[in-house]
Amino acid sequence: MILSGNPIIYKSYEWERLRIASRFNASLMDHLRPYVKPGITTDEINQVVHEYTVSNGHTPATLGYHGFPKSCCISINEVVCHGIPDDTELKEGDIVNVDITSIVDGWYGDQSETFLVGEVSEDARKLVQATYESLFLAINTIKPGSSVIEIGEVIFDFATELGYGVVRQYQGHGIGRDFHTDPGIPHYPVSGSERDLLLPGMCFTIEPMLNAGTWKTVEDRSDGWTVRTKDGKLSAQFEHTILMTDTGPEILTLTKEGPQPGHRF
Ligand code: MF3
Ligand code: CO
Ligand code: CO
Repeated sequence: MILSGNPIIYKSYEWERLRIASRFNASLMDHLRPYVKPGITTDEINQVVHEYTVSNGHTPATLGYHGFPKSCCISINEVVCHGIPDDTELKEGDIVNVDITSIVDGWYGDQSETFLVGEVSEDARKLVQATYESLFLAINTIKPGSSVIEIGEVIFDFATELGYGVVRQYQGHGIGRDFHTDPGIPHYPVSGSERDLLLPGMCFTIEPMLNAGTWKTVEDRSDGWTVRTKDGKLSAQFEHTILMTDTGPEILTLTKEGPQPGHRF
């Protein structure tokens, strides 16, 4: 069998380490959840993330990662991903993605949610709903031995039907002992990804970014990180860390307090 790249297959005794890291990361999401309200600054949310992680003896993976300056990414409205926490206050009507990654005893867990801040427009709510559903459509599609391209196909077809753009520049990734490993998990069908198979023991993220308008994005040249939609329209994202087991995908980053599969926003 030919696998492109160099995906890691974790041994079953390592699966519990993966589960522990992601479970901690999910508990962090539940911890920050009540803070996501109008009036809080993204820096204050970052501080909540940092303190909870460090006080539990763990490490925020983004802090210092390729020079990223904060302990999480917070991306508001037209910001697609990699928003840097600062003194911006959340306001009623915003949609805001909080993307958190923890290192627990050398193992990584990675997830994000888009939150509705107070009452949001119907268009914003629909975009968030579709993005959430696209993630679960993909999860429910894959089985041991599935090809990575099935993820891109199901997300792309669903989003395109609804008139949304699917971001191409950024993708899901293998995760575990490192933050970003093979295989890359594109959220649209990329020729070549049919050769990447999802085998038991592989751990990876699915993290679709759907845009209200064009799929095209632009990187902020002044800070080198912030990614925005090219047309300034809204973008939403959800992310889970997933372990392929012998019986199917196991979502490692499910929260206790957050939206559960089937949730309606
Ligand atoms: N958490 C992001 C992901 O899902 C990566 C953030 S890297 C950073 O892969 F440097 F921007 F923080
Ligand atoms: Co992430
Ligand atoms: Co990720």
